[in-house]
Amino acid sequence: MAGTTPQQTDVDGLDGLDGGVGLTALLVAAARAIETHRHDSLAQDVYAEHFVRAAPASADWPVRIEQVPDGDDNPLWGRFARYFGLRTRVLDDFLLRSVGTNVRQVVLLGAGLDTRAFRLDLPSDLVVYEIDRAGVLAFKQRVLTDLSAAPKVKRVAVPVDLRADWVTALTTAGFDPDVPSVWLAEGLLFYLPSGAETYLIDTVDRLTTGDSALAFEAKLEKDLLAYRDSSIYTATREQIGIDLLDLFDRGPRPDSAGDLTAKGWSTSMHTPFDFSRRHGRGPLPEPNDALEGNRWVFAHKPRR
Ligand SMILES: C[S@@+](CC[C@H](N)C(=O)[O-])C[C@H]1O[C@@H](n2cnc3c(N)ncnc32)[C@H](O)[C@@H]1O
Repeated sequence: MAGTTPQQTDVDGLDGLDGGVGLTALLVAAARAIETHRHDSLAQDVYAEHFVRAAPASADWPVRIEQVPDGDDNPLWGRFARYFGLRTRVLDDFLLRSVGTNVRQVVLLGAGLDTRAFRLDLPSDLVVYEIDRAGVLAFKQRVLTDLSAAPKVKRVAVPVDLRADWVTALTTAGFDPDVPSVWLAEGLLFYLPSGAETYLIDTVDRLTTGDSALAFEAKLEKDLLAYRDSSIYTATREQIGIDLLDLFDRGPRPDSAGDLTAKGWSTSMHTPFDFSRRHGRGPLPEPNDALEGNRWVFAHKPRR
């Protein structure tokens, strides 16, 4: 229907999940389901497979590595899924470490099907704000309600597009800029236009006090298309019809880690391979590797 917005066509809460960037939330959920069932699992998410099964777009995707004919040799459900499992674990650890004693608020930017509010042993008086588009959050809620899942913290869904005025939505939902907070932008920034990323980083700085923290994922490649034929992108395109390179914003990226450092945050940048080596499992570098430019950035705002 010409001229309608995604929200207007969202009759069953699935819009935004069955196509485009929302589908990537299901991809990560399937990866977490596979990770959960591994004997050497890095992260446990018992909800992940329920999301995968509940969405028509992913109902026939594997949720265990044993369901993949070529198993770990499959670039999508083997190596790429393990990447997401590792990322989940690393950001779980970052969140648990950063919450400390002062933090009472967490903001999940592009939360997708993240179930940290249900899975992690976080202080029960913590509030977790989950920002994503309405269709994604409506689908998530429906699945969690069907499972009678109970969050371990107070959880507040904030349905808003991060290219729109999300600050008003977040503060109206109860977020308090005067209380320390931890923010995660996991698998998000490269989908946003560079102006939206710059605004997001500036805004996180503006909405945080000392003792706050932010972790985000970035892609440093100058030319994303240089990896068009990498096995990860090819397998994702051919096996489940998601062309990640079509979904990523192709414009030049801002230097968000550098911008935060200039604002007084202490930042550190890591490759995923650093953590594969640390945990003794996870992806290692390979030729023509779409993961080569991926970085995980951890930023802390000092107490003033
Ligand atoms: C790859 S998924 C990652 C989800 C989650 N952070 C995780 O790691 O499981 C990307 C998520 O970002 C969300 N997203 C992308 N662009 C967005 C935008 N402009 N506004 C709100 N959410 C957005 C998508 O809907 C999707 O849920």
